[in-house]
Amino acid sequence: MELVPKIETVGLNLYYGDFLALKGINMKIPGQNITAIVGPSGCGKSTLLRCFNRMNDLIEHTKVEGKIVIDGLNILEPDTDLISLRKKVGMVFQRPNVFDLSIYNNLKFGLRIHRMLDGKDEIIQSIRGGLEQVGLWQELKDKLGNNARTLMLEQQQRLCIARVLILKPDIILLDEPCSALDPIATLRIEELLQALKQEYTLVIVTHNMQQAARASDYTGFMYLGELVEFGQTNQVFTNPKQELTENYISGHFG
Ligand SMILES: Nc1ncnc2c1ncn2[C@@H]1O[C@H](COP(=O)(O)OP(=O)(O)O)[C@@H](O)[C@H]1O
Ligand SMILES: [Mg+2]
Repeated sequence: MELVPKIETVGLNLYYGDFLALKGINMKIPGQNITAIVGPSGCGKSTLLRCFNRMNDLIEHTKVEGKIVIDGLNILEPDTDLISLRKKVGMVFQRPNVFDLSIYNNLKFGLRIHRMLDGKDEIIQSIRGGLEQVGLWQELKDKLGNNARTLMLEQQQRLCIARVLILKPDIILLDEPCSALDPIATLRIEELLQALKQEYTLVIVTHNMQQAARASDYTGFMYLGELVEFGQTNQVFTNPKQELTENYISGHFG
């Protein structure tokens, strides 16, 4: 991989108290691609994902060592502006975390935090743009005042993605974003991710191996806090370098 990576980790360790949850992770994630992080439950996938926008800082007793370089800057430096980091590196969770507010106010929420509000017309324009990007504008444009929690789960997850998009991020982290959805909705979200990768760098945690194989360009396989293997998805799935990877993808454990 000769490309300049969008995200690079160097010797990344993360401790929860005394417990070493990430062990010397060295990883180069290319830009404008979909990278899947796979591995059995409890192996550190979510922890690694949360490192990329320093969400682990919100958990007590965590300690991080090493480097995480995004666009040439080590985001672990103490002077990193966490508010702008989390705008640049947005996150979508397993359960759609829509707020108990209207669709309109769910979307306006992030704009307000980041002081991106410039008059009502611009707000509506960016809300419309976000909903268009996730394929919801036509169905919701006349219902923006409805409570977002009345939407179907897939619509809620799309809304969460729109809420990230309207902040104009570079990188979108998705932690098992389809695990609450049915198979049809899952495929439609995967299609959406394919469209988004033209503009954004996507990192998706999944324990659905078919999803990783279908929907990602690169795959990292984690096991017990280590990155066992990282490479093009095709290679990792058809010709893994490590026996552990081979055993995992052929369903011997996990
Ligand atoms: N807030 C926390 N405090 C202590 N240990 C944690 C915390 N979050 C996760 N862990 C531990 O770190 C390991 C990795 O967890 P996690 O990143 O959630 O794994 P995964 O997403 O792959 O299931 C697990 O052993 C888990 O128990
Ligand atoms: Mg997890």
